[in-house]
Amino acid sequence: MIRSRIVPVLLVVAAPLASYGCNKGSGEGGAGAAASANTAAADAEAKTIFEQRCVACHGAQGWGNGVAAAQLNPKPRNYTDVNWQKSVTDDDLKKVIVKGGAAVGKSPLMPPNPDLESKPEVVAGLVRIVRSFSGKPGPAPEASAAPSASASASAAPSASVSASAAPKGSASAAKQK
Ligand code: HEC
Repeated sequence: MIRSRIVPVLLVVAAPLASYGCNKGSGEGGAGAAASANTAAADAEAKTIFEQRCVACHGAQGWGNGVAAAQLNPKPRNYTDVNWQKSVTDDDLKKVIVKGGAAVGKSPLMPPNPDLESKPEVVAGLVRIVRSFSGKPGPAPEASAAPSASASASAAPSASVSASAAPKGSASAAKQK
């Protein structure tokens, strides 16, 4: 007899508790604005990554003739090639960027970028950059000597950087009493 009364009492107590839980986490009003700010930040990061990691092989114009591309076989993809652009989906591009060429049956010389696995926004930004080259003027067919000369010149100034690392101040400091 006593037991049958306990159940309804528990229900009455439990119901308001449950509704407290549901109210938690409201107040995330500005999600839309935050998302577009994130996209801008991710695009900026993608641009930096592209210049640091991709241009060496794919070239600043996306022609696949960066300074490190000369020895590569097959050559890095020429992004201006419209037919190639049509033949790949964004998901294909995301996969090759994160997992590398070997994972998708392409050349292992296309390196993976495992650190970007947790940054889909940045990968999407890289895909947008790759897509942005579509239909742009490409390398002149079989006349690649002239344009590639100016492209490789940009890699030269690295030699001057190391000079600035010389210790300073120690000589003059020693003279002071
Ligand atoms: C060490 C040189 C090298 C670097 C660095 C490099 N790639 Fe590549 N990439 C290649 C080569 C080589 C291929 C061609 C693979 C093939 O056709 O088998 C390629 C192919 C690609 C493709 C085309 C894949 C396809 O479906 O045909 C994309 C997209 C690409 N790379 C994006 C990038 C991005 C983005 C970066 C920078 C994060 C990058 N690559 C860095 C060498 C490189």
